[in-house]
Amino acid sequence: MKLIVLVIYVLCEFEGIVSSENDEIINSISSKSIYSPEIHAELFSPSLGLTWDHYLTLDEINNFIDHVGEKYSDFVTVHVAGYSDEGNPIKIVEVLSGNRSANKIWIDGGIHGREWVTPSAMLLILFQLVVRRESNSEAMRGVDFYVCPVINPDGFDYSRRFSKFWRKNRRVINNHCLGVDLNRNWIYQPEHSDVHEEKCRDIYPGPFPFSEPETQALKTFLEQNKNNMKAFLTFHTFGEMIMIPYGYKSALPEDYDDLERLANHIVQNITLHGGPQYKVVNTYDYSGFSVGGLDDYAKEVLGIKYTYTVELRDNGTYYFFLPEHLILPTSIDALVVAATVAEEVYRI
Ligand SMILES: *[C@@H]1O[C@H](CO)[C@@H](O)[C@H](O)[C@H]1NC(C)=O
Ligand SMILES: *[C@@H]1O[C@H](CO)[C@@H](O)[C@H](O)[C@H]1NC(C)=O
Ligand SMILES: *[C@@H]1O[C@H](CO)[C@@H](O)[C@H](O)[C@H]1NC(C)=O
Ligand SMILES: [Zn+2]
Repeated sequence: MKLIVLVIYVLCEFEGIVSSENDEIINSISSKSIYSPEIHAELFSPSLGLTWDHYLTLDEINNFIDHVGEKYSDFVTVHVAGYSDEGNPIKIVEVLSGNRSANKIWIDGGIHGREWVTPSAMLLILFQLVVRRESNSEAMRGVDFYVCPVINPDGFDYSRRFSKFWRKNRRVINNHCLGVDLNRNWIYQPEHSDVHEEKCRDIYPGPFPFSEPETQALKTFLEQNKNNMKAFLTFHTFGEMIMIPYGYKSALPEDYDDLERLANHIVQNITLHGGPQYKVVNTYDYSGFSVGGLDDYAKEVLGIKYTYTVELRDNGTYYFFLPEHLILPTSIDALVVAATVAEEVYRI
């Protein structure tokens, strides 16, 4: 099969070209799915400020975002959609194709604090979209991207620094409970209101939809930018799944077959680039009733066609804390998702 490899090169002879301290990381990437040596050098270059041998901190993420915003200001704009409960900016990187009527793709990570690999994956996508723009497919260059690397900066930072299993934001709810699950705060069915009583739980959805500054800020941004938005990819870990809405009801979207077809392509392309075998599932079918998901909001309220929740690696060995040599291969899975979706969105 002929692969159009614009994003990722098929290349076996790379040993000795990149520095030895990265050997473990490089060796963990299948020969089918690595960047060429030149790109590796770029990806690992200190001037870029990205690292692949440890999980990024919130400062490192924001520094890279600001770097691309300044250096590539002719086609990149960094927006601050609003501020988290603790006052951290929620940054969205807009990468424009230059075509005013281009279709758009939304991509986000870091809505759950402990899902550390997702912001790294977002930055790999940005690296490819911006720094390596010339090498991209026509599709990747022909659509507008909106990338929000960390929806929940407070929860991410808290998880990185103090308590790695932390999932929610950090807003004080009452004397003994803290935090709202930002992926339960979008839309949900009021008759299941018993969930509101369980304020200390990891999946506490908040007192009402959009009760949180983070979801409120993104709602406003998304409403203003939803025109021509044809895909919405929200990244989580773990489970290796492409999840199709809805989660809050058993009914399937009318265009479920289209979503399933593209999801099957994505899964196939991930394996072609050396990744594991992801599964395609319907959220309700797989996880049961779940309220307030960002994907349900994107699909049902905003009407964005190719809306998926993507659960990255792994499939249950390391849970949320993949060994660090898997940060880059897992981020490459995410890049393949974005590139494959761009091919579809570019031609509709
Ligand atoms: C701009 O994007 C629209 C929508 O995808 C497409 O129909 C049109 O051909 C594009 N124009 C150029 C000059 O690429
Ligand atoms: C998890 O992935 C490994 C390696 O890809 C595979 O061998 C194993 O069967 C998978 N387990 C499940 C439960 O899918
Ligand atoms: C995905 O696979 C299709 C063939 O099934 C191919 O045409 C396309 O270029 C691949 N995309 C990526 C990003 O690998
Ligand atoms: Zn999650």
